[in-house]
Amino acid sequence: KTLESGSFTWSSPSNIALVKYWGKKEDQIPENPSISFTLDYCKTTTTLSFSKKEKYEEFSFDVFLDSEQKDDFKPKIETFFKRIERYLPFLKAYHFKIETSNSFPHSSGIASSASGMSALALCLMSIERSLSEVDVTEVYFNQKASFLSRLGSGSACRSIEGDLIVWGTHQEIGGSSDLFGIKYPKDVHENFKNYQDTILLVDKGEKQVSSTIGHNLMHNHPYAERRFEQAHENMSKLISIFKSGDLEAFTKIVESEALTLHSMMMTSMPYFILMKPNTLGIINAIWAFRTKTNSKICFTLDAGANVHVLYPENEKETVIEFIKNELVTYCQNEHYISDQIGFGAQLI
Ligand code: PMV
Repeated sequence: KTLESGSFTWSSPSNIALVKYWGKKEDQIPENPSISFTLDYCKTTTTLSFSKKEKYEEFSFDVFLDSEQKDDFKPKIETFFKRIERYLPFLKAYHFKIETSNSFPHSSGIASSASGMSALALCLMSIERSLSEVDVTEVYFNQKASFLSRLGSGSACRSIEGDLIVWGTHQEIGGSSDLFGIKYPKDVHENFKNYQDTILLVDKGEKQVSSTIGHNLMHNHPYAERRFEQAHENMSKLISIFKSGDLEAFTKIVESEALTLHSMMMTSMPYFILMKPNTLGIINAIWAFRTKTNSKICFTLDAGANVHVLYPENEKETVIEFIKNELVTYCQNEHYISDQIGFGAQLI
């Protein structure tokens, strides 16, 4: 089939890892399996418009973020296009206009690479589907969208679907792959239904360490091999926790994973501390709250200072109360974002 022009719009969510991906091989192959909750509110919406070109020699595209032309995004997208061209041969045949916006503020310190790259990959998959002579199954569509997203930003491959996604081969998870994310295929206890994630914005600045540099720090890292094994062990533990619904055991794995991620950065060469004093203030306040009450809240971190507070839905009221009374003072301009587990990307 041929198409002269058209456009597709997808919105795709962010995700938060429980077992972290940190360290990769060539071609965005992860050193260890990871698992994440797909988020609901934090997402990127991307409209990809395309029109056929006369000549096919080069990639050509314009990028807009909230209607503002963004030339600084171009090198990232150029690299992405180069990586995926062999899987999408039509890329050089069109001129593209990429219009994108995020549901969360630009300067929130929330990375938009997972939601942004997956939204773009999904738009490209919609073009592939329109050009295809044969019917494209949903499984093929989602799997290839995840595969392409991975080549944009590793963790983006966990944003296509929800609510719990595994990326990277793990012995106990049949169908798991280093090439794309899959829906967690085993039993999940109802304790995890509608799990909440309130993101406390401690530092809204640019990331201190880009994730490319970060992953590279795991090459020749003195603790790398043991860390990769530990990720496998933690995945196995989470499998039984998801089945039993044991939230105390869940807390231990999730918080340890967050602190391990940061420990890897503190013990690499060069070394970094990405937590801020207020990050530690929040962690201590959460621990004190847990000792004082029966709460099952726990925290996790990305490669930055912001804190994700995770808790079961039935604690929503008391935890929001606690956050408002005790934790917002640690946030920049008292800013936090209430989110929860979501179910993946949507065609608009
Ligand atoms: O997808 P990247 O290359 O930006 O890596 C992100 C890695 C972490 O967010 C720190 C952990 C994870 O698994 O999402």
